[in-house]
Amino acid sequence: MQPIRLGIIGLGTVASGLVSILATQAQGSRSKIAQTFEIKKIAVRDLSRPRQVDTGAIALTADPFELVQDPDIDVIVELMGGTTLARDLVELAIRNGKHIVTANKALLALYGNELFAQAEQQGVQIYFEAAVAGGVPIIKALREGLIANDIDWLAGIINGTGNYILTDMKKPGAVFEQVLAKAQELGYAEADPTYDVEGIDAAHKLTILASLAFGIELAFSRVYTEGISQVSADDVRFAQAFGYEIKHLGIAAKEPSGYSLRVHPTLVPKDVLLAEVNGVMNAVLVHGDQVGATMLYGPGAGGAATASAVMADLYDLGRMWQAGAEHSVPPLGRYTADLKTSAN
Ligand code: NDP
Ligand code: HSE
Repeated sequence: MQPIRLGIIGLGTVASGLVSILATQAQGSRSKIAQTFEIKKIAVRDLSRPRQVDTGAIALTADPFELVQDPDIDVIVELMGGTTLARDLVELAIRNGKHIVTANKALLALYGNELFAQAEQQGVQIYFEAAVAGGVPIIKALREGLIANDIDWLAGIINGTGNYILTDMKKPGAVFEQVLAKAQELGYAEADPTYDVEGIDAAHKLTILASLAFGIELAFSRVYTEGISQVSADDVRFAQAFGYEIKHLGIAAKEPSGYSLRVHPTLVPKDVLLAEVNGVMNAVLVHGDQVGATMLYGPGAGGAATASAVMADLYDLGRMWQAGAEHSVPPLGRYTADLKTSAN
């Protein structure tokens, strides 16, 4: 069986985790499907930078445009981030008939409607399990495990950095900037950490979750967005004294007038499960008409955890490849017959 040939854009926190997992898989000790993968090339910004992982004989290039047009590559794994260059590269890759695997929630939240339409037209897939809640398989849960449900609402802690900061602020003497610096050091934060602390990253993720849950188009501009930068250590301690934890939640709910999408700090009673989600952990509580309430919990950021989600997408692709199926999953926003066009 021929391996699926991968071109990876980026070799930072997540991509390094992926290269490690693929190396383990190549040794034959971990693979659960017959399909194998071969990394043909990795694009980086700075070829001279020391790397966290051994890339062995894999070719590194500083030209991602060459990579996405390489006829010897079947799948582009975009782990670079950003929305300008990443969008150009993903569009070009799609035009060149490549399947896409990405962890880039910003790209999907802003340009996903166009990208999914382009992918559908070209008969390729875009997979994005890693784009929301790191290692927590919430995308597959909404697409597969909860498919029988009409989702009424979902609420979750969907930014690991923010939750890490709020958790640490419970310790006496904790300083916001120092805790954020630690989260950056651990590889949890976005390249621009404003995205984490001002709620933008959570809003990107909520946009994606709402689209999957309700079958609506991606509507990032409709998300009310407030971050944790104004939350003080005193706020955290006072909330605790009154029996609450301050959690930064993303909430999407079906209302009689449409959909309500919002991210903001929230007082969560201590006896509610979400209040016990600490550190870099994420959790998403989903309410469906058949299943009732169900919650997924796990690491929301970090190289290995997120790479585990990227790998899940590659396995999906591998199964599709083996079955010769043209479409294994419908694009976002195509679940309901009466596709809504806005999330007001
Ligand atoms: P990093 O900043 O660690 O890595 C980014 C990589 O992209 C670097 O290797 C960098 O190259 C490369 N890169 C940047 N610009 C270019 C360019 N012009 N051409 C080629 N390569 C380029 O990011 P992360 O791994 O943390 O994140 C990657 C994506 O995954 C982002 O979309 C992020 O939002 C998402 N994500 C991250 C998670 C995490 O826990 N970190 C969790 C879930 C999703 P160089 O090394 O040479 O500078
Ligand atoms: N910066 C993001 C977070 C990475 O902290 O949740 C995972 O998407």
